[in-house]
Amino acid sequence: MENSISETKQAVARKAYEYLATKLHKDCILGIGTGSTTNFFIQELINKKPEIKAIVSSSIASTQLLEEAGLEVSELNDVGSPDFYIDGADEINDRFEMIKGGGGALTREKIIASASRKFICICDSSKKVKVLGKFPVAIEVVPMARSYVARQMVVKGGAPEYRVGFVSDNGNQIIDVRNLKLNVPYDFENEINNIPGVVANGIFAARKADCLVIDKNGVPEVLEQ
Ligand code: A5P
Repeated sequence: MENSISETKQAVARKAYEYLATKLHKDCILGIGTGSTTNFFIQELINKKPEIKAIVSSSIASTQLLEEAGLEVSELNDVGSPDFYIDGADEINDRFEMIKGGGGALTREKIIASASRKFICICDSSKKVKVLGKFPVAIEVVPMARSYVARQMVVKGGAPEYRVGFVSDNGNQIIDVRNLKLNVPYDFENEINNIPGVVANGIFAARKADCLVIDKNGVPEVLEQ
């Protein structure tokens, strides 16, 4: 019988933990992402409680899960560079560039991913694409800049939509942009970043993943870049 998406996410998260477990030590700092796949990884951490130095988290939601289980979460400012960052993706290509931010945690995710030595992306194979862009690119904006940024995205050929009622953990708003041609994601990531009012965007090309844990023919495997 075929695994449900949820079972696959859990299998991938377990495989990622297994892979990481051999590399963890008492001075390790772990960065933890956000989303349903990462939640399964958090569950592994909670069950295994490895002896490490610190955990930093990319969202209030992940922090809550960790703290409720008795795991301490540190501020990124108070610890050094995380050794590993573990997080999901909404899309990932062969070069391990990604679209992230479906859950709206993109800014903190990008900060911790960029600060970390190794980014391990964990996702099910439905997220694998040849060209990024079918999944809308989330852009976190300072609230007063929302309409301006949206108009700039129309000029670039995008179809922006305001994520109504959503406020990011940083108190900002999100617009989701469809129809973008992301043949060179790195360039587009920088272009969007140059629009005043943009806090961060969901293209992860400047900081892509170093390692991908994903299912192939129903079996999770670790791919290194
Ligand atoms: C959160 O903002 C996102 O970047 C998630 O990492 C991404 O949406 C993947 O989520 P799932 O693991 O729930 O598919």
